[in-house]
Amino acid sequence: MTDNRKPSVTTISEIGKHEGQSVTIRGWLYNLRESGKLLFPIIRDGSGFIQGVLHKAGVSQEVFDSVKNLTQESSVIVTGTVRADKRAKGGYELDVQNVEVIERVPESDPYPISLKDHGVEFLMENRHLWVRSPRQVAILRLRAEIIKAARDFFDERGFTLTDPPILTPAACEGTTTLFEVDYFDDQAYLTQSGQLYIEATAMALGKVYSFGPTFRAEKSKTRRHLTEFWMVEPEVAYAQLDDIMELAENFISFIVQRCLKNRRAELETIGRDISKLEKVVAPFPRLSYDDAVKMLQEGHAKGALENKFEWGGDFGSPDETYISSQFDKPVMIHRYPTAIKAFYMEPDPQSPKHALCVDVLAPEGYGEIIGGSQRMGSYDALRKRIQEHGLPEEAFKWYLDLRKFGGVPHGGFGMGIERAVAWICSLEHVRETIPFARMLNKIYP
Ligand code: 4AD
Ligand code: MG
Repeated sequence: MTDNRKPSVTTISEIGKHEGQSVTIRGWLYNLRESGKLLFPIIRDGSGFIQGVLHKAGVSQEVFDSVKNLTQESSVIVTGTVRADKRAKGGYELDVQNVEVIERVPESDPYPISLKDHGVEFLMENRHLWVRSPRQVAILRLRAEIIKAARDFFDERGFTLTDPPILTPAACEGTTTLFEVDYFDDQAYLTQSGQLYIEATAMALGKVYSFGPTFRAEKSKTRRHLTEFWMVEPEVAYAQLDDIMELAENFISFIVQRCLKNRRAELETIGRDISKLEKVVAPFPRLSYDDAVKMLQEGHAKGALENKFEWGGDFGSPDETYISSQFDKPVMIHRYPTAIKAFYMEPDPQSPKHALCVDVLAPEGYGEIIGGSQRMGSYDALRKRIQEHGLPEEAFKWYLDLRKFGGVPHGGFGMGIERAVAWICSLEHVRETIPFARMLNKIYP
């Protein structure tokens, strides 16, 4: 039997189910206002925020005084009666009867992040505390939703999750951005991508995906680069470039629609322009690299771009921004020059100087969020490529085996979760997309 006299412990997100009842909330003091004989503490508990009301006459002197002097982020267990209030942010207020202070933040050493603005440098140094603020909480919830949507998308479509290793003997995306690790008497590297390994599991299971941390030792300080980031990568046996593009556009629209459905409140908290996300529905525009180059050259002729882009180069951030600004959906650019892309990409049989690859550029200047391709199928051609790229052949023997023993056309892509979060949340920098960002010169906290 339940004891109806005892207030039930609940969370702020569930408080609407307890209207008129006495409940207990366990959390922290976010803010405190005082007005004569009334105190208005705002409590947060991770699930939400709620304003409490204490009347001097309605509680003991001891409770009133302890709340009156309470410091920001002190931990508290609050008991009160839930009252619907149309003016309140979440629709409810709490008429507080009791407050138990678990740990009081000392006045002499107050919580460093006050409710006024702080510089980003300072906030990043205090990232372990900054994550408590409403905006950061909303972003982290959106990140979790994006990850769940990504997994659901593949799980619901017959893909099997297979986890590639993090310690690897060789490069996937080029030798210049490898983190080296001592591996007993050997040299190992932190993985740049799970792709090569999921090509193997795709030959076993047909449709697979991986989701895990990946590492790039890039000495780049842009707002899009992390040294440690999370990548979701599907790989599909018998898939060709068109199949990969179709998968990518359906994948992105699925994720965006899921955020709109389940995380609208969080999108509103962070001030996202939701109408822009509502347009993100497959199919997406497709543009060949050659046509993208023409678009950039026209942009230069019109004075919209400073430098004249020459065929054969890789797009810089202003180029990507210019191309994506021509569309209100993500744009898929396919068939880049073989020479500027990874060793494993299949050349286009119609034009071998182009690779059967695709980059998906997000709208609003967010740049590349997906990179993918059809993989090289021929044993001999791949072996030659490995040699041309100066890669150690012994380390790739197993990878070459995949072509020797029943090789088939296949392909896949990788999406960096943080790039997707930055775009969907409209953040200026990827550092806010992950609880603890790792960047050049950033390893603390
Ligand atoms: O284009 P990338 O390098 O492609 C691969 O790694 C392929 N092996 C993927 C595949 O085909 N399975 O990286 C894929 C995505 C990029 O589009 C970007 O979203 C993200 O990973 N990414 C980064 N995100 C944050 N910081 C970095 N330094 C990133 N580098 C790549
Ligand atoms: Mg790429």
